Order: sequence, then structure tokens, then C-alpha cells
Amino acid sequence: MDNIHKQKTFFGRRKGKGMSKAKELLLEDYLPKFGITLPLNGTIDFSKLFDFKPKKYVFEIGYGDGEHIVNMALKNPDIAFIGTEVFINGNASLIKKIIANDIKNIRVFPDDVNLLFPYLPDEIFSTIFILYPDPWPKNRNEERRMINKNNIEIFSKLLKHDGNLVVVSDHPVYIPWVLMVMSKQNNFLWTAEKSSDFTNPPLDWETTKYERKAISENRKPIYLNFIKK
Ligand SMILES: C[S@@+](CC[C@H](N)C(=O)[O-])C[C@H]1O[C@@H](n2cnc3c(N)ncnc32)[C@H](O)[C@@H]1O
Repeated sequence: MDNIHKQKTFFGRRKGKGMSKAKELLLEDYLPKFGITLPLNGTIDFSKLFDFKPKKYVFEIGYGDGEHIVNMALKNPDIAFIGTEVFINGNASLIKKIIANDIKNIRVFPDDVNLLFPYLPDEIFSTIFILYPDPWPKNRNEERRMINKNNIEIFSKLLKHDGNLVVVSDHPVYIPWVLMVMSKQNNFLWTAEKSSDFTNPPLDWETTKYERKAISENRKPIYLNFIKK
């Protein structure tokens, strides 16, 4: 493992208290079909992941219950979506939606994204979405935040030239944190030119349960888009 991939893995609870037997069986039955298995060596062969030749690959980290990735996949059948989520209940919800909608263009890594990073080929993704990452607001937990100096280097390696890193948060500590981290690196440009570029969602935005709750509680989502140079 090279230096860029030596980092702390997920902190928190993986298995939900309310995980039903039905969900466990769902994962058992369908993860072999939709899940990504890590190779023994080298990187994942993306040409073998899907039964069609995708126009591009899009990555979503921490997809929660999968609402955003599913709606994006339904709207864009020629694009392939890779999602990771460490929370097992979230994985079961996504698999359920994939089956209910007969979705062919999503593959799932049902675990900590840090375990997946070393197996992803360079310059594979057109877009990386990180929606409402856990804020870890206390200063002493800064190193647990998904946006950090090390991960920015990883995202830069994984994105194609002109690829997008989309980070959305409603958290008053997290947004300045992201802007501070991004201001100290040279791989990405922040695309915003006026306030509405970050206070309004991008065109064709697919919302999530988390986002609807934030808005209903008068928290203001901020939509940050960075382009890889
Ligand atoms: C606040 S939730 C937001 C969920 C979803 N993106 C949404 O907008 O509804 C953050 C999610 O990130 C997931 N997460 C946190 N760290 C992760 C990691 N290292 N790898 C994969 N998922 C992670 C959590 O389990 C959680 O579901």
C-alpha cells in the first residue's frame, strides 16, 4: 500500500440496530450480483463490471439509502455508477431499489471507501459525488472528515482531466473546512463565480432524504463543484 492510501478507516457503526432478517437475506442473495469484489492484485477491471460499454463512470461516496445514485442511474442508463456505503442498512436499501427498478448501471462496494481506494484505476471517473458527508465537527476529529488533504490527492488521481468533485453539505463547520482544504491544493479549481452557483443545486439535481430534512429544518445546503485541472 503506498503512502496516499495509508489512512484511517471508517469510524462508527456499520450495522444498524433495526437490520431485519429480510434485509440480511437480500444482501446475501444479491451482493454477489451487484457488489464489487476486490481483486487479489492490481486494480478492478472496470471493463468487466457491467454488461454494457458505459459512456462514463460516476462515483458516489456514502450514498446513504441510495436515493441520489438510483435516480441518477435511472435518468442516465448509458452512464455507469459506482457507489460505496459503509452502513449495512443503506446497502440493503440500495439493493432493494436496484431490484425494484431493474437497474443495470449501478455496482456497489458495501463497505468503507478507504478499503476500495487502492483498487480503483487512475483517471477512471468523470464525477465524484460526496453528499452530506459526516461532519465530525469537533476540531479533534478533523482527520476523520472525508474531505481532507490526503483524500483530495486520491480524488484527483481517480478523476479524469476536467472531471468534477461535487461536495454538498449543510454544516456550518464543514463548508468552511472544505473551502480551506481546497484552497491549499493545486489539483482542483472551484467553479463558482457568483453566490447562486453554490446556494442553488446544479441543474438536474437529485435530492435525498437527508437534504429534504435539512431544508425542512431551515438548514441551508451549499453545493460545491470543483473541476480537476
Ligand atoms: C450524513 S449521511 C448522508 C447520506 C447520503 N449521502 C444523503 O445525502 O442522504 C453520510 C453517509 O456517509 C457514509 N460514510 C461515512 N464514512 C464512510 C466511508 N468511509 N465509506 C463509505 N461510506 C461512508 C455514512 O455511513 C452515511 O450513510
